[in-house]
Amino acid sequence: MIYFILRHIKIAFIICLLSAINSIQCEAPFEILDRSYDQKNIKIIKKSDGKLVYVARIEDQVYKKKYCVKQYHSADRIFLSLKEVLISRIAESAGIPVNCVRLILAETLFPGKCYKERMATLHTFVPGRSLRSTGGYPEVDIKQFSQGRKILGITRNIIDNMSLSPNLAQIVALDTFTGSTNHSRGNIFFDKESNNFYGIDLKRAFLQNLGNLAYENIKKMYAGKKFTSGQIAALRVYRDTLKELIAKNSPGDICRHLDALAKTTNLKRKMCFFGNKHVYLLNNKFVLLTSNSVKKCKVMIFQNYDSAKKLVTLLDEIIKKYTK
Ligand SMILES: Nc1ncnc2c1ncn2[C@@H]1O[C@H](COP(=O)(O)OP(=O)(O)OP(=O)(O)O)[C@@H](O)[C@H]1O
Ligand SMILES: [Mg+2]
Repeated sequence: MIYFILRHIKIAFIICLLSAINSIQCEAPFEILDRSYDQKNIKIIKKSDGKLVYVARIEDQVYKKKYCVKQYHSADRIFLSLKEVLISRIAESAGIPVNCVRLILAETLFPGKCYKERMATLHTFVPGRSLRSTGGYPEVDIKQFSQGRKILGITRNIIDNMSLSPNLAQIVALDTFTGSTNHSRGNIFFDKESNNFYGIDLKRAFLQNLGNLAYENIKKMYAGKKFTSGQIAALRVYRDTLKELIAKNSPGDICRHLDALAKTTNLKRKMCFFGNKHVYLLNNKFVLLTSNSVKKCKVMIFQNYDSAKKLVTLLDEIIKKYTK
């Protein structure tokens, strides 16, 4: 009888958890990008000029939504903007709590654009403040990071941090699936009002096969010290998010999306290099891509996808065999 009650409580808990995850959706659609929208209703709240980027915080007075307009100082970094849109679209497919990003094309006039003649990206505004700026949750770091040239991938410490909130486990799954290594404390926001974590800054994607690293690391962890129930709960959200990402984003679809983005922005590859940089034409002007090339990115898309599938099989086994 007790077993029966506990089992039902557990099912109810899982349903609550899933509905909480589903409620953290992106604030799209972007009404302010609609041709019929009158841009006079956009108010610039704040402008900030970073080392690499210019960010303007804006507010739409009609729908009462806040956004950020982001532009790199150098046109050579355009590929980073395309990746932000690509990763945002992937995240949206699985309801992952990161900012949604869209392109503002070069020829489109838009309030908050610093370089009028160049493209920019429009980001839904993420509430709260970054962990780095507030010093909140001092122990939390979910970046599957590199130490010097060594890429560490997921660690037991990251899994512990993921167990703090399903949001964090979802963001880590997104990073594993997209080979992204940029969610340091400065790019993770915590909102006290909703008690939610959010990710921003999706530019460093498809640079590493983090799926394979996660597979190797988790296999080693599994062979070593037993996972705690908290870690298993976090791995369950991580696995379920990976499954959803895999089901909704085939590598072919991701590559086609990337091609479509490059086409919309008029980015064309030239068959030459300048040092180790790739020469592209952007609106018929030369740019040197400082990130990996579109071709290398596509290789990573396929590798990460295959590894993520292998990883899910391993996680299925670990979770199924887990006993307290
Ligand atoms: N969607 C967003 N919601 C809220 N704030 C944002 C958003 N996007 C950017 N910002 C603010 O702008 C800052 C810089 O943006 P971001 O982290 O995306 O760029 P970056 O390339 O890391 O720039 P930098 O290296 O100068 O930090 C963030 O630290 C944050 O304060
Ligand atoms: Mg940042």
